[in-house]
Amino acid sequence: ALISLRQLLDHAAEHSYGVPAFNVNNLEQMRAIMEAADETDSPVIVQASAGARKYAGAPFLRHLILAAIEEFPHIPVCMHQDHGTSPAICQRSIQLGFSSVMMDGSLQEDGKTPASYDYNVDVTRRVVEMAHACGVSVEGELGCLGSLETGQAGEEDGVGAEGTLSHDQLLTDPEEAADFVAKTGVDALAIAIGTSHGAYKFSRPPTGDILAIERIKEINARIPNTHLVMHGSSSVPQDWLAVINEYGGEIPETYGVPVEEIVEGIKHGVRKVNIDTDLRLASTGAVRRFLANNPAEFDPRKYLKETVKAMKEICLARYEAFGTAGNA
Ligand code: G3H
Ligand code: 13P
Ligand code: NA
Ligand code: ZN
Repeated sequence: ALISLRQLLDHAAEHSYGVPAFNVNNLEQMRAIMEAADETDSPVIVQASAGARKYAGAPFLRHLILAAIEEFPHIPVCMHQDHGTSPAICQRSIQLGFSSVMMDGSLQEDGKTPASYDYNVDVTRRVVEMAHACGVSVEGELGCLGSLETGQAGEEDGVGAEGTLSHDQLLTDPEEAADFVAKTGVDALAIAIGTSHGAYKFSRPPTGDILAIERIKEINARIPNTHLVMHGSSSVPQDWLAVINEYGGEIPETYGVPVEEIVEGIKHGVRKVNIDTDLRLASTGAVRRFLANNPAEFDPRKYLKETVKAMKEICLARYEAFGTAGNA
């Protein structure tokens, strides 16, 4: 059944678990996510970016998610729009039947240039007004999702190499979070706590202090009724990197957020955990390996089935680790 983000995360908060929010673009991702949820009895958040809508087309994307709900009627599914860059985009998703939208007002409408705090409050408040009238939840974003290792803002922020910031400037400010929530009424808030988008988060193996746990606690204490969201939560599995590179890929040494750190974040209030890159890596590794080992094969179903298997293993592991399992 379709449920809102508020309904799902209220339950997660009450029972102290986290929910992975997997990005979805195609049938194989959708199958991997749903089969893993079915096997572990987990509630689901699937999220579609603007890029996903462009790739699949809005009607296909919408029906892909509706098909999942039809095939797995016993699994609660939140249909979430990831990183909306304007109230108009959020409105369109609400019309399409999404049960949750993200208004990312941390950036201007180009999705690149950092926006002012007042702009963020204004667009987010307008989306909350519109969405809540339709029973749809809203996620906002506050702070700069950059790379703490390099002190540079992430790709998302478009600040680039010249935008070097200090560690503290990159983290969401708890006072500002409280003010933002009071002014906008968002159901969930994406916070900057040490993660960044994509496969290139850290160039050296993480030593165990990637997430700003103290900051998570401080923010959670100030906005106890707003659910915390962690973007850039891929763990960048080293085994899949090795498979990709063994079979012709060229991905440089890189590391993500260890699952144990995410679990620690969940203990201190993180509820929605955004994952895209990990499924991309697993999918690519599976295709490269299959085609290298089966050079005469040309039925796409053969190698796409391998991607479902690879992505499903990751989904299963996250549902178990985050405590999502058993809560459907
Ligand atoms: O935050 C971005 C997500 O990883 C979606 O990526 O815009 O390439 O679909 P995308
Ligand atoms: P990753 O790139 O770490 O998978 O993060 C995805 C994300 O935050 C989508 O909004
Ligand atoms: Na989102
Ligand atoms: Zn994101």
